[in-house]
Amino acid sequence: MQLDLSGRHALVCGASQGIGHASAIELAELGANVTLLARSVDALQTIAAGLPRPHAGQRHDWRSVDMLDITSLQAVASEIAADQPVQILINNTGGPPGGPAHTATAAAFETAFRQHLLAGQTLLQTLLPGMRASGYGRIVNVISTSVKEPIVGLGVSNTVRAAVAGWAKTLSAELAADGITVNNVLPGYTRTQRLAGLLAAQAAASGRNEDEVAQGMLATVPARRFGEASEIAAVIAFLCTPAAAYVNGVSIAVDGGRTRALS
Ligand SMILES: NC(=O)c1ccc[n+]([C@@H]2O[C@H](COP(=O)([O-])OP(=O)(O)OC[C@H]3O[C@@H](n4cnc5c(N)ncnc54)[C@H](OP(=O)(O)O)[C@@H]3O)[C@@H](O)[C@H]2O)c1
Repeated sequence: MQLDLSGRHALVCGASQGIGHASAIELAELGANVTLLARSVDALQTIAAGLPRPHAGQRHDWRSVDMLDITSLQAVASEIAADQPVQILINNTGGPPGGPAHTATAAAFETAFRQHLLAGQTLLQTLLPGMRASGYGRIVNVISTSVKEPIVGLGVSNTVRAAVAGWAKTLSAELAADGITVNNVLPGYTRTQRLAGLLAAQAAASGRNEDEVAQGMLATVPARRFGEASEIAAVIAFLCTPAAAYVNGVSIAVDGGRTRALS
């Protein structure tokens, strides 16, 4: 199985912690040069310095930018691609705040749409020429199982994730002939800072302790445990390899079997 990413350049968004950080490690382990992107400068510096370098000459870098600021994002992505064309894009960023859809403001929808969809489109348009010139492109969007079963209490997220899934499926057909695949990875409950925040918020709102909230979540997971960021990252990294060239336009749940939908 061809898993070697030597000579490939990966841009990993939301890479200062959690699933993005874990994905950067896996891609570097497979030989890719990795550029990390997020807002937290200290974390990015530390993570970039510690990424694996199994091949001589492998180099990793980082850039700090707010993905809500589309103009700056485009400028940063252009600089990254000018330095070295990017063949692998991991579209990943923080999840929208919770709450029902019917009480969410128009501004909340706009913000989420900008951060998740417009940011992705901006990165795509900036990096696409390099992918086409390489004859190799891998775009993986980290979204949510809500694209198969909308999640109660995540109204804005459910809406925007579905938009990203529709965008990705459309792109997958448009770009396949150029050797570019576009796929989505749907994490289940994964032990990251986001999950820790979710547990704390639900405990505070319900009067239960965090362990009780966690047990309630785990009751819905056949594997009866939370996922590790590295387990999500392993699937993301596989989708970026030559071996995954014929996997295109799919949404893969990595959720311990929680999603009950057939496809
Ligand atoms: N963990 C789960 O259980 C779970 C389940 C389903 C779906 N997901 C989704 O999967 C994705 C990753 O999850 P995670 O748990 O790894 O999330 P996380 O721990 O909250 O990490 C989010 C990453 O995105 C970056 N980020 C957030 N806002 C940004 C912005 N405006 N501009 C640039 N970077 C930004 C953060 O870095 P900075 O703060 O440094 O910018 C961080 O590196 C999220 O969309 C999440 O909703 C997670």
